Amino acid sequence: MRNEILSRLPVDFPWQPHLHWLDSVDSTNSRVKAMAAAGAPHGTVLIAGQQTGGRGRLGRSFHSPPGSGLYLSVLLRPQCPPAALMHLTCAAAVAACNAVEETAGFRPGIKWTNDLVSGGKKLAGILTELGVDAAGRVDWAVVGIGINCTQEAADFPPELREMAGSLSMLAGRPVAPAAVAAAVIAALRRMDAELHTRKAAVLDQYRRDCITLGREVLVVRGDESRRGKALDIDENGGLLVEFSRGNRQTVTSGEVSVRGLYGYL
Ligand code: BTN
Repeated sequence: MRNEILSRLPVDFPWQPHLHWLDSVDSTNSRVKAMAAAGAPHGTVLIAGQQTGGRGRLGRSFHSPPGSGLYLSVLLRPQCPPAALMHLTCAAAVAACNAVEETAGFRPGIKWTNDLVSGGKKLAGILTELGVDAAGRVDWAVVGIGINCTQEAADFPPELREMAGSLSMLAGRPVAPAAVAAAVIAALRRMDAELHTRKAAVLDQYRRDCITLGREVLVVRGDESRRGKALDIDENGGLLVEFSRGNRQTVTSGEVSVRGLYGYL
């Protein structure tokens, strides 16, 4: 699989020497964080055939069976303060959309902040994690992406069947995980090169892709949930929401359900 992916990337691709494949791992994010602690360089990429403990946002798990999905994490070591990386998940989501468009022939939407969706189904998720050194600068950032590639509806466990889809289901033809992997890795490398120089343009693309904007949302934080309307994405990737009585607030964390999606009525 590693060679299949490499054959689809330019021979002088700069991250090529640091590209690793494992048949099975608990979580590519966890493993890459361990590699970072052991001194792995910027541009280290780990792809796994399956994950036994795939992780999502808000402590959730990410279903990661063998043979049908892409599970990939990349290690970045940007020389900057953490505040300069607030838009990293948004930039990674745009990169993932670019890669899907290239390989599956359709452009998914983004459900703020980190889900790729199409036809009302979740196709992919992104988990970004950050480590800071003693001086308060970024030591490592791990961007993990999981994409459902070749599953059919019946392949998903019953509890996911309603909300999950795959690239092959949406494209109406098989979409090879190796092709998606190579496109995602190349798109993440472009994202990294432009992270600070093209921030405004990338966030503009995110706004165009983001299906949350203009929709009614339910913002859940701890025990509190509030209805509002999603208005905009700010310069850090935060979601500007107008709540009842017209008060506006930027949401930066927690769960945001979009009316009409994933069973939120
Ligand atoms: C989410 O849906 O909330 C995010 C899911 C992120 C899943 C990917 S799969 C590769 C990487 N390793 C993990 O454990 N999680 C991410």
